[in-house]
Formats: sequence, C-alpha cells, structure tokens
Amino acid sequence: MGELGVCLAHTQDGAWFAIDDTCTHEDCSLSQGDLEDHAVECPCHGSRFDLTTGDVLNLPAVVPVRTHRVTVEGEAVRVEVEDG
Ligand code: FES
Repeated sequence: MGELGVCLAHTQDGAWFAIDDTCTHEDCSLSQGDLEDHAVECPCHGSRFDLTTGDVLNLPAVVPVRTHRVTVEGEAVRVEVEDG
C-alpha cells in the first residue's frame, strides 16, 4: 500500500470534496491552490479542476484528477480512496 496525497476542500456552501492532490500537468500540490466555487486552481500554472467531477476546466492540464467520496459524521470527515 503506497501513499496518496488528497486535496480536501470545504466550499463556501458547506460541501466537502476530495480529489487527488497531485496536478496532472506537472505534479504540483492542488491543496496549495485557491478555491473558486466548486473548483480548485493549481498554484503552479493555473489549471482549474472541477471538484465534483475532477474534470479539467482550463489548460495547460488536460487530464482529469480522480475524485474521492467524502462523508461527514459529526466532526469527523472521512475520505474513501479506491485503489488504482
Ligand atoms: S502543475 Fe498544475 S497546471 Fe501546471
């Protein structure tokens, strides 16, 4: 079992999202980026990723990131990461 970085986002409307932390363009950390509605902007070259689908919203990245299911129980936030 290896390690996987996750970008956990809590948006202004109270929703939680989790996507792979590594940008598919050049491996920057998406958790260091800015949130804008339901998207995160990569801090390195500005590609934005849709938090609900993982889709790329603008270049230079072209490959989507994986999304992960998030559940909230009380003060516990759980992220389910599937293998692969
Ligand atoms: S590393 Fe994320 S857009 Fe380039």
